[in-house]
Amino acid sequence: MRVAAAGRTSLFLVLPMLLLLVVSATVRPAAAAATKVWKGEGTRYSVMAFHAAGDGETGDTKAFEETWDSACRDSGGANVYVPAGRTFLLRDATFNGPCKSPITMQVDGDIVAPSTLWQLKSSSVLTFHEVDNLTVDGCGQIDGRGAPWWDCYNHKKCSARPMLVSFSFCNGLRVTNVRLKDSALKHISVYRCSQALVHNVSISAPCDSPNTDGITIGASDHVRVSSSSIQSGDDCVSIITETTDVNITDIACGPGHGISVGSLGGAGEGPAMVERITVSNCKFFNTTSGVRIKSWQGGQGKANGFIFRDLNMTEVQHPIDIDQFYCPQGNCPERQGGVAITDARFINIHGTSSEREAIKIMCSESVPCHGIYLDNVDLSWCKHTAPPQAKVMNAHGSVAGMVKPQVRFLGR
Ligand SMILES: *[C@@H]1O[C@H](CO)[C@@H](O)[C@H](O)[C@H]1NC(C)=O
Ligand SMILES: *[C@@H]1O[C@H](CO)[C@@H](O)[C@H](O)[C@H]1NC(C)=O
Ligand SMILES: *[C@@H]1O[C@H](CO)[C@@H](O)[C@H](O)[C@H]1NC(C)=O
Ligand SMILES: *[C@@H]1O[C@H](CO)[C@@H](O)[C@H](O)[C@H]1NC(C)=O
Ligand SMILES: *[C@@H]1O[C@H](CO)[C@@H](O)[C@H](O)[C@H]1NC(C)=O
Repeated sequence: MRVAAAGRTSLFLVLPMLLLLVVSATVRPAAAAATKVWKGEGTRYSVMAFHAAGDGETGDTKAFEETWDSACRDSGGANVYVPAGRTFLLRDATFNGPCKSPITMQVDGDIVAPSTLWQLKSSSVLTFHEVDNLTVDGCGQIDGRGAPWWDCYNHKKCSARPMLVSFSFCNGLRVTNVRLKDSALKHISVYRCSQALVHNVSISAPCDSPNTDGITIGASDHVRVSSSSIQSGDDCVSIITETTDVNITDIACGPGHGISVGSLGGAGEGPAMVERITVSNCKFFNTTSGVRIKSWQGGQGKANGFIFRDLNMTEVQHPIDIDQFYCPQGNCPERQGGVAITDARFINIHGTSSEREAIKIMCSESVPCHGIYLDNVDLSWCKHTAPPQAKVMNAHGSVAGMVKPQVRFLGR
């Protein structure tokens, strides 16, 4: 009697459990094979289950968006899986939140944009909008195939071009391990996000590709960019207005235009605001600037609280560059006022410049720079025996340790 009861009880328990196992095995396709790549919690949604072709020729945007929508409705954590060994063709792919739980997009396969121009419906090849706790991870490559767009732009025939991957209005973003190349425009855009991490990514585009910034961060706070390598035709990382608390560390940058704050205070923009930016342990090779703060004449607002430290410059045109007269096309009209640049520290900066003016600190008469501090800066002019120079205008600041080339401030 007792035995039978126990047997019935265990059967009652075992049967539903078996059913559960069967159900979960069907919901999670190839769960056993996935253990190597899928370590997280929750359900795996492979784009293949949503009829992606992955042949590099058939458009897979719809399949990706449908996979996303299912994952986004899952309240138990979800993994959007892009399998290795395949190439997926995407354009204007839009992944909207808010989602029910954190999502990981595991990009182990490759993604390509079309090889020819297309009529843009979205600002980016992949757009993530209002997604919290998103992780984009994987060893796949995302190729923007931007060459026809660069050509079109250079011939003044295209005004709009797509970015490669953009994230907007998000909290808790992580982008790790992916490789991006040849975007038509910026590679990664982080806009109105809080708590974002970009780690161990590699980005590459030719040094003459127009406006192909590596990572642009705007209207965001608490952003960390670390252990990444960026080669591009524009800034490796750019930080634009309404951004605070950014930490950039262990980046290899070049070729490209360096790591830049700005440009700030452009016509038609409200008062600029950028604060608490740290750039440390970075290497620059063959870039036009090393670390730079650039603003337009006549702008308003402030850029305050910068630490640039432990930087290695190799053949950089202007390793240290503050420019309140930013004017990339030349012949800008003279304007009064400007974005106030204060408290910028340059500490332990070594290496070579490719131009004689290794240090440029060019501030306006109406809004001089304040609190510029140089400590232990040692730059030489590459391939020249003559020493490099510092060009300094309307700047208040101080120096400590050895500073080469010598810098003269207006006073503290
Ligand atoms: C994201 O993470 C935060 C902090 O852990 C949590 O409060 C929030 O509910 C999460 N949101 C989603 C959609 O996962
Ligand atoms: C960094 O990313 C590369 C390329 O995806 C990968 O091979 C490597 O293992 C990653 N490194 C770490 C420390 O995770
Ligand atoms: C930035 O990150 C580096 C490396 O982890 C760390 O040493 C430094 O304290 C951080 N700085 C800020 C301002 O968070
Ligand atoms: C440096 O960059 C320029 C373009 O900015 C390029 O033409 C040149 O080949 C690069 N030099 C090296 C040594 O990579
Ligand atoms: C700076 O980088 C160059 C080129 O990679 C390297 O040869 C040099 O040793 C580095 N200097 C320091 C101080 O790390």
